Amino acid sequence: MRTPLIAGNWKMHKTPSEALTWLGDFLPKLSDQNPNADVLLGVPATHIAAMAARAGGGPLGIAAQDLSAFDEGAHTGEISGAMLRDAGATHVIIGHSERRADHHEDDATVHAKVAAARRHQLVPIVCVGESEEERDAGQAEAVVLRQLEAALGDMAFSDAGQLVIAYEPVWAIGTGRTATASDAGAMASVIRDALKRTLPAVADGVRILYGGSMKPGNAAELLAQEDIDGGLIGGASLQTDDLLAIATAA
Ligand code: 13P
Repeated sequence: MRTPLIAGNWKMHKTPSEALTWLGDFLPKLSDQNPNADVLLGVPATHIAAMAARAGGGPLGIAAQDLSAFDEGAHTGEISGAMLRDAGATHVIIGHSERRADHHEDDATVHAKVAAARRHQLVPIVCVGESEEERDAGQAEAVVLRQLEAALGDMAFSDAGQLVIAYEPVWAIGTGRTATASDAGAMASVIRDALKRTLPAVADGVRILYGGSMKPGNAAELLAQEDIDGGLIGGASLQTDDLLAIATAA
């Protein structure tokens, strides 16, 4: 009932011209293989306009990796939701653990950014996930539920397509260590149950992604979990064939 969503997160990789070369390889293969999944690529802000123009409203959507909590004004270096939307992004990743760590984004900032995304009709991909210490201390669920509640707070969603959640255990990101399919699936179910309490009208349709060293070899098992509806893929999204292999496993 939920169409899988396979979302790449390029992080700070590739130049705009390298990205267009990558698309030249990827787009024909994507049309050819026509996976049973929505496919999205989160790219640096400098790439969005050219990549969205090249992807041209076809089967590949373009996402931003962050946005400003502000709409406009004296905020040097910031990029607003309106700018991203006008450049061609449809989604925006918010609260990635790298931003929480490198840029000290706290729960309140994540909430403000989700609100900003909604004001500009961008679908937020809200990232939650515990650190290794938190998991070892038996706090993984509590941390994830706190992040989720703080991010969404009092917000209302009229359509399940307006929200995506990504469960990304911090210790699995870029490490080659993946959560077991059953652990990842269990956390996705905890997230779904929380959504059922706070957003009952849309909870069944909201897509919950897993992220953290997902690759062609482990994607099918992770994606087979009942409440895992796709992936947020870092390293493996840089190679066209790997991203396609994951999309076709969905
Ligand atoms: P890796 O797939 O490289 O572990 O990155 C996951 C991630 O952070 C996606 O947002």
